Formats: sequence, structure tokens, C-alpha cells
Amino acid sequence: MKVVRYNIGLILQQPLIYSRAGWMKTVLITGTNKGIGLQLTKSYVLNGYRVIATCRNISKELKSSGATIIDGIDLTQTSSAEKLQKNIGNTKIDILINNAGAWCNDSINQMNFEGMIRNFEINTIGTLRVVDALRSNLRNPSKIAIITSKMGSISDNSGGGRYGYRMSKAALNVAGKSLSIDLKPNNISVAMIHPGWVQTDMGGENALISANESVTGTMKVISKMDLTARLLPRHKFTND
Ligand SMILES: NC(=O)c1ccc[n+]([C@@H]2O[C@H](COP(=O)([O-])OP(=O)(O)OC[C@H]3O[C@@H](n4cnc5c(N)ncnc54)[C@H](OP(=O)(O)O)[C@@H]3O)[C@@H](O)[C@H]2O)c1
Repeated sequence: MKVVRYNIGLILQQPLIYSRAGWMKTVLITGTNKGIGLQLTKSYVLNGYRVIATCRNISKELKSSGATIIDGIDLTQTSSAEKLQKNIGNTKIDILINNAGAWCNDSINQMNFEGMIRNFEINTIGTLRVVDALRSNLRNPSKIAIITSKMGSISDNSGGGRYGYRMSKAALNVAGKSLSIDLKPNNISVAMIHPGWVQTDMGGENALISANESVTGTMKVISKMDLTARLLPRHKFTND
């Protein structure tokens, strides 16, 4: 399996930022109660970042992660964007990781139009809602990483089906490209990152890699992001 990472955007390594907790950068991650988002949270905390983790409902593991948690954040709700802004206040963000996402079961024989709309609301519009809410908190320079999927790639689609998920992630990729252009003057780099096929509730138990392996690769890619609109080096996974 190939791990495709479209880098759209750039930024040089940022200077370390001083916070009350010491010299640390701040990363905000969405969808952190489980799966890839939870692992991203744990790994960034372990690596000395100040992590602000958003979720709809707190899980036990998230609670003990060491992150600052903002719960009740549903990407489909305008009120959640307002809550997020209120909770963040003037806090400056170095890395925003839009991870939260949803899957939709459908096929040529069983269209799921409600599920498709829901996928767009969460994966596509929800991601933009978070970026919009936090735009003024993003440092100059800073990074936005968007967890997409290679299922949103038109050229990579050899399997068909999965209409809602594929369409929502393809549209998300388009949104990411526009963000990379619009935010470049503010020195905000934007990257679309496919995390691999990962053993989570969404990926299922037959997936090829663990959340830990996925996140190790994703963090490497994020550390290499810059504004040069190039394809970032891929992180190699077993069987990828
Ligand atoms: N796993 C894979 O193989 C794979 C492959 C390619 C891309 N991805 C992408 O990776 C990201 C993380 O997926 P995952 O595998 O970790 O899936 P997961 O275990 O199902 O976790 C999804 C996360 O998104 C949150 N979420 C769903 N709907 C939400 C909403 N309306 N508002 C706020 N948060 C919401 C979930 O919270 P709740 O628990 O509250 O629902 C959960 O925290 C997604 O964007 C997914 O599309 C995954």
C-alpha cells in the first residue's frame, strides 16, 4: 500500500515558543477520543508538545493522556466552533491537525444519500469550520495538517464504490489546495496526509498498520512541511 502525502504549502521549522509549561509548541488535534487522533495526542504529548485535544466525548485514555481537553466539539455544529473559539481565547497554535472524520457505508446497489451528506458535513465542511474558527490563532508561521485518505484520490480509485467517503475526501483535498494558496501569505503551510490503512474502528482489525506506526510516519511528514507546494517524502510502512 502506498502512503500518499500531498504537500501543498510550506513553512520552515518554527522557533520554539515559550509557554508557562516551558519551551514548547502548541498542537491542536480534532477527533481525539480514539483511533489515530488519540495516538496523535499521546505521541505529541510524549514528544514535549502542549496538546489541545478536541472531541465530542472524552474517553478514559484521552483523559489520562496529559493533553488539555476540550469536549463537546462536534464538527457539524456552528455552536461547537463558537465553543472552540471561546475555550482557545488568544492561545497561539503552531500545528493544527484536522483528524476527525467519518465513514459511510454505500455501494452501487445501495446508495446512502443521508450518509453521504453526513460525510460531507463532517469530513469536508467540518474541517473547514475548524480552520475558520481557529484562523486567527494560527501563528505566523504555522502548519495545518489535514488527515485525508487516498480513497479521495481519483487516479487511485481502482475499487469503485464508497461514494460518500470518497467524494467527501476528494472535496476535502480541493479545500486543502485552496487553503494552501489563501494562507500562504500568512506563512501557514497546508498538507493533505493519508495515514495508511490503520487498525482503528474505521480501518478495522484487518488494516495493515497500528495507529502508533501511522502516527510515527505522520509526525515525520508534519515536521518536514514547508511552503514549497511539493510532494513530501513518503513514510514507508510495511506492505505499503
Ligand atoms: N483508519 C484508516 O485506515 C484511515 C485511512 C485513511 C484515512 N483515515 C482518516 O483518519 C482520520 C481518523 O480516523 P480513525 O481511523 O482514527 O477513525 P475512528 O477511530 O473512527 O475515529 C474518528 C474520530 O473522528 C471523530 N468524529 C467523527 N464524527 C465527528 C463529528 N461529527 N465531530 C467531531 N468528531 C467526530 C470520532 O469521534 P466519536 O467517537 O465521537 O465519533 C473519532 O474521534 C479520519 O479523518 C479518517 O477519515 C483513516
